[in-house]
Amino acid sequence: MTPLLQVRDLAKFYGSRRGCEGVSFDLYPGEVMGIVGESGSGKSTLLSCLAGHLPPDRGEVIFDTHGHGPRDTLTMSEPERRMLMRTDWAFVHQHARDGLRMGVSAGGNVGERMMAVGARHYGDIRAQAIDWLGRVEIAADRVDDKPQAFSGGMQQRLQIARNLVTGPRLVFMDEPTGGLDVSVQARLLDLLRGLVREMGLSAIIVTHDLAVVRLLADRLMVMKDGRVVEDGLTDQVLDDPQHGYTQLLVSSVLQV
Ligand SMILES: Nc1ncnc2c1ncn2[C@@H]1O[C@H](COP(=O)(O)OP(=O)(O)O)[C@@H](O)[C@H]1O
Ligand SMILES: [Mg+2]
Repeated sequence: MTPLLQVRDLAKFYGSRRGCEGVSFDLYPGEVMGIVGESGSGKSTLLSCLAGHLPPDRGEVIFDTHGHGPRDTLTMSEPERRMLMRTDWAFVHQHARDGLRMGVSAGGNVGERMMAVGARHYGDIRAQAIDWLGRVEIAADRVDDKPQAFSGGMQQRLQIARNLVTGPRLVFMDEPTGGLDVSVQARLLDLLRGLVREMGLSAIIVTHDLAVVRLLADRLMVMKDGRVVEDGLTDQVLDDPQHGYTQLLVSSVLQV
């Protein structure tokens, strides 16, 4: 089977400071990979480079495109990359306001993403938007409300609906439960897990919360000072960590 994503020797520096360096891995269709590490370990830098939000200094990010097979997304043209971001890729931001249009209704937020991939029929778009609101547990009678009127958890669920409505093949998530109350986090995690399984999504999830990867990720990469210090199956890494830093993370000695 061809990997969905092949990452080779990715590196990004901010001046002389290392953002991330020497990161290589394969992600297969349907796999969920977690990236953990303390604050400043390079998780967001890596995710931004993978998702095309930040140009790395070197490396390859090869995605198995629908039409043209494996392509290095870093060297493809800007329009091609933008098309990928609208179709096969999705990005769930930590703060919903970064991934939503706050001045547009909930239905509009979901519908807009559908229109970006060619949907034109108003009735269909609205019906599918309402269907997706239901799938993320937002009542149909909120379809015309703007996200400002929603709680943090609802905003995050709306962001997820907006991202998944077009059936992406790879979803990037940066601390998807990070800004939420603990009570709301559990419900959102359950919902995410259901959607990921149901849709057979591949995902890369950055989090400092080991409970999130325990629940969602098949595999795990542990980062420290911009480098991957340990990787493997989630249960294996968490239950029998080999690297001293991972042992500290797991035993919660580190303040993350
Ligand atoms: N825009 C930036 N300018 C300069 N240094 C940065 C910038 N963003 C991140 N860094 C540095 O890169 C390293 C990795 O940061 P980051 O990727 O944000 O880590 P994490 O997401 O794990 O907290 C840190 O040393 C951080 O200070
Ligand atoms: Mg970060």
